[in-house]
Amino acid sequence: MARKIKVIETTKELQAELAKHKAKGKKIGFLPTMGALHEGHMTLIKHSNAENDITVCSIFVNPTQFNDKGDLDKYPRTLEADTKLLQKNKAHIAFVPSVKEVYPSGKKKSVKVDLEGLDDEMEGAFRPGHFAGVVQVVHRLIEMVTPDSLYMGQKDFQQFTIISKMLDNLKMATKIRVVPIVRAENGLALSSRNVRLTKEHKATAPIIHKVLKAVNRKKYQLTVKELEAYALKRLAKHEGFKPEYFMLADGYTLKPIKSTKKTKYLIACTAVWAGDVRLIDNMIYKKPRTLKIFTAKEIS
Ligand code: PAF
Repeated sequence: MARKIKVIETTKELQAELAKHKAKGKKIGFLPTMGALHEGHMTLIKHSNAENDITVCSIFVNPTQFNDKGDLDKYPRTLEADTKLLQKNKAHIAFVPSVKEVYPSGKKKSVKVDLEGLDDEMEGAFRPGHFAGVVQVVHRLIEMVTPDSLYMGQKDFQQFTIISKMLDNLKMATKIRVVPIVRAENGLALSSRNVRLTKEHKATAPIIHKVLKAVNRKKYQLTVKELEAYALKRLAKHEGFKPEYFMLADGYTLKPIKSTKKTKYLIACTAVWAGDVRLIDNMIYKKPRTLKIFTAKEIS
């Protein structure tokens, strides 16, 4: 019979369980999530299972990273289905703490990390306070789980870049593993928010991936301004679709660039409203050979 996943709500119980494994020298992989799990998360589980003995997945809708209360209220909560999916994909522990458990002394942000402007543009510009909340919760969850490796998806490019900076700056022992974006066959990046798309918007949403690919093809033919304008125009053409930004950036600094030719680590990131659902996506157009970040093992 398949091993049954452990669903744990408190840090005390979690740490007692993990201590047993650590005492035997077992490696712990961890993926922080806000639930509404999908195939993208399951790819992270597969990577974690391949590189560790124990995989912990936290499900916690973190109130401190939502600058819009409506967005927090609307965030899908599907704990039963999530646990089943985790069981099916052989995660070992589902950690489902309450707000009180995560923030026993209140939600005030106490971790100070110099993000060197990584949070100035894109999501940082449109969702003030969002990354302070993400840094706070991921730092706290790492403190609770003390994993060897942390698994994050490339889909949240700015998020994994900021968390890498946090781990470096605070000299934390946990290593980050970034796993490439998982897409539906039509190109739509998998996201917990996709379940809230209307049928029509879901059918149109692959345009985001198409535009990212088109800009990649044109990247040396047009100026940066022209490329961004082209992308925004194409994204705005569709009924109910409103792009918030489409930015070509330097993958190290997440700052705007002047020339696609001169940028060694070239990325494009975008956020688009499809009705009242905000979708984000990105693509790496050029990556230096020495870039060490995509280190998760390839899983077939
Ligand atoms: O990407 C997410 O789901 C969240 O930002 C994270 C990393 C779980 C922190 O709450």
